[in-house]
Amino acid sequence: MASSTNKSTATVFCKAMILLQLPLFATVFIFLKSRPATTCYNSIISFGDSIADTGNYLVDFGEKAGPVGHPPYGKTYFRRPTGRFSDGRVIIDFIAQAMGLPLVPPYLVRTSKQDLRYGVNFAVAGVTALDGKFFRDKGMVLTWPQYSLATQIQWFKKLLPSLCSSKSDCESFFSKSLVLMGEIGGNDYNHPFAQLKAIDEIRTYVPSVVNITSWAINSLIELGAKTLVVPGIFPLGCVSAYLTVHQSGRREDYDPQTGCIKWLNEFSEYHNSLLQTELDRLRRLHPRITIIYANYYDAAMDIYRHPLKYGFDAPLAACCGGGGPYNFNLTAMCGAREDTVCSDPSKHVCWDGMHLTDAAYEIIARGLLQGSYASAPITQACLLLEPDVPQLQRVF
Ligand SMILES: *[C@@H]1O[C@H](CO)[C@@H](O)[C@H](O)[C@H]1NC(C)=O
Ligand SMILES: *[C@@H]1O[C@H](CO)[C@@H](O)[C@H](O)[C@H]1NC(C)=O
Repeated sequence: MASSTNKSTATVFCKAMILLQLPLFATVFIFLKSRPATTCYNSIISFGDSIADTGNYLVDFGEKAGPVGHPPYGKTYFRRPTGRFSDGRVIIDFIAQAMGLPLVPPYLVRTSKQDLRYGVNFAVAGVTALDGKFFRDKGMVLTWPQYSLATQIQWFKKLLPSLCSSKSDCESFFSKSLVLMGEIGGNDYNHPFAQLKAIDEIRTYVPSVVNITSWAINSLIELGAKTLVVPGIFPLGCVSAYLTVHQSGRREDYDPQTGCIKWLNEFSEYHNSLLQTELDRLRRLHPRITIIYANYYDAAMDIYRHPLKYGFDAPLAACCGGGGPYNFNLTAMCGAREDTVCSDPSKHVCWDGMHLTDAAYEIIARGLLQGSYASAPITQACLLLEPDVPQLQRVF
């Protein structure tokens, strides 16, 4: 396990983030050269779980964080573990780079040197949208960080006065801020599935998960947010861990084209359809706010359907894991001594059994920013905002 304490991990991490700025600018430049900057954002504010976490979990848990604090995590891009659950970047990193912004720093690195002007990330790996009580009431054992969406919104409220002060200051701050709401909700299902709850019961959680997500979006709009990107969840039936745990001899369980488990993907689609219906309702409620649905599900499915088009020769097996048909083994996870790490992670979609590789996240981010997987063009949404005095009076 990690040899440093929580505090020194934080310090080292912060220093690393500062050091990172130099090589990053080079990367940003290259990224933008191929595609002119059309973005008008000054900052990214992010909430969610391990899909978006850029280091909060690692900072918070220090030595107890487990494999994510150790190689091979981070090996491809950062060449060291950063707390991201990937071999490299995660989707929010690619969004930040495409917008010419620094990588979004994790909130829990609380040092005076932390520069949050360009964004702040509240996402923590393992968290659920709903709070612990919901799951305790269902008889579940809570094994994950208790930093639900409500906690993350509280953190943001506490921080906000240091980001903008006056009415007009906050107005201009939010008109150039992109709020990324998630991905969130995946763990509200991952944990119950892992604790062997029946799918019929887990389905009954979906309206509550969507409800709390909607509450969080509303809270942020009340605080001043103007442009929000809300991702759906990934196709659970294509995830190496799910494919391993729910392996079956029934051919009809599997999608013949992708090899993914159909009933699990249908579950993801159910969550995503309820979420989209709710986003429609929110758009009618807040006609001047831009709420963009980010279709992580279809962006990922396109990769699973056409892996070779994107250069993946192993779409379903994890790059890093403890063996078995999907290279996922609950008793020998990525980062354990028995694991094997593939020679070329860029040929794998799945990194560690639950999360994707730098290569796969890049394609999904590109699909959102340049393709058809966002319900409105993310990079240009801020240009559409008009000065809106009545709105301001209502909010403050
Ligand atoms: C969430 O559920 C509560 C209780 O059922 C309800 O009062 C509230 O209006 C719902 N909120 C949203 C945003 O759907
Ligand atoms: C999973 O890992 C354990 C411990 O290393 C090992 O004994 C077992 O054979 C592995 N299972 C598979 C399917 O590879």
